[in-house]
Amino acid sequence: MKMKTANRQSRRRFLRVACAATTALMLDGLPLTVGTANAGKTKIGIVGSGRVGGGIGSVWVKAGYEVMFSSRHIENDKALAARLGPNAHAGTPQEAAAFGEVLMISVPYGALPEVGEKLATLINGKIVIDTCNPFVWRDGDIASWAREKGAGLASAELLPGARIVRAFNAIGAARMAAAHQDPGRIGMPIASNDAQAVEVASRLIRDIGYEPVLVGGLVMGKYLMPGTPLAGEHTPEEIRKILPRLD
Ligand SMILES: NC(=O)c1ccc[n+]([C@@H]2O[C@H](COP(=O)([O-])OP(=O)(O)OC[C@H]3O[C@@H](n4cnc5c(N)ncnc54)[C@H](OP(=O)(O)O)[C@@H]3O)[C@@H](O)[C@H]2O)c1
Repeated sequence: MKMKTANRQSRRRFLRVACAATTALMLDGLPLTVGTANAGKTKIGIVGSGRVGGGIGSVWVKAGYEVMFSSRHIENDKALAARLGPNAHAGTPQEAAAFGEVLMISVPYGALPEVGEKLATLINGKIVIDTCNPFVWRDGDIASWAREKGAGLASAELLPGARIVRAFNAIGAARMAAAHQDPGRIGMPIASNDAQAVEVASRLIRDIGYEPVLVGGLVMGKYLMPGTPLAGEHTPEEIRKILPRLD
């Protein structure tokens, strides 16, 4: 009974976000700075430039975005940026967070508390794409807590003030750079409580070949994880068919 009520609430929240997103898309002249810089290209900062951050960031660079990569080892980020050309930059996580109109955080979940603390003032009010998944074998106790709470709500707690969009959570890193070869065929389930963040992130996701599918608010972030029915590659229609089965 409790579960049904929670699901109904989650659905209502989803509809509110979906409607707001549609409205946001229809409104011209929104006070959006994102998407207007650098001839229409949003500047992207990436914290965690490993398989996911490095992979997706590289495709954004190839799609014409300016991207700053960061990690705890700037020499790796510099080497990556040098390989990708003039639209790619390397910096510290603080520099990437300041550079990016949109930030993607792609670190092991166990690093999120530290990242959230160090970047607190820079991420406050910023659109943050959260790819991070909690795994107990890798991340320890924080992963148990995050799984219990649901990854979307847990990330929101660890990154206070960030306008979080969960995305890229349950597709293997090795496949992430392939979507642009057949644009729109693969759906990208995303979850967020922020309609404008959804709009902005959707544009970035579409520009590298995925069709974003809003599955609901951050409470639905618990389904954007490996091991759930949404994990793996699905067409947008398949994702929409899976959604009712999550109840
Ligand atoms: N691999 C996949 O197929 C996949 C798919 C979807 C989602 N995910 C999730 O996405 C996240 C990233 O996965 P990944 O496979 O890309 O991991 P990864 O290859 O291990 O990369 C992690 C990146 O984060 C950096 N990092 C670690 N701790 C940091 C800190 N405290 N501050 C700043 N940077 C830090 C690492 O560099 P340094 O160690 O040099 O700092 C590295 O660049 C994980 O949460 C993962 O569960 C993974």
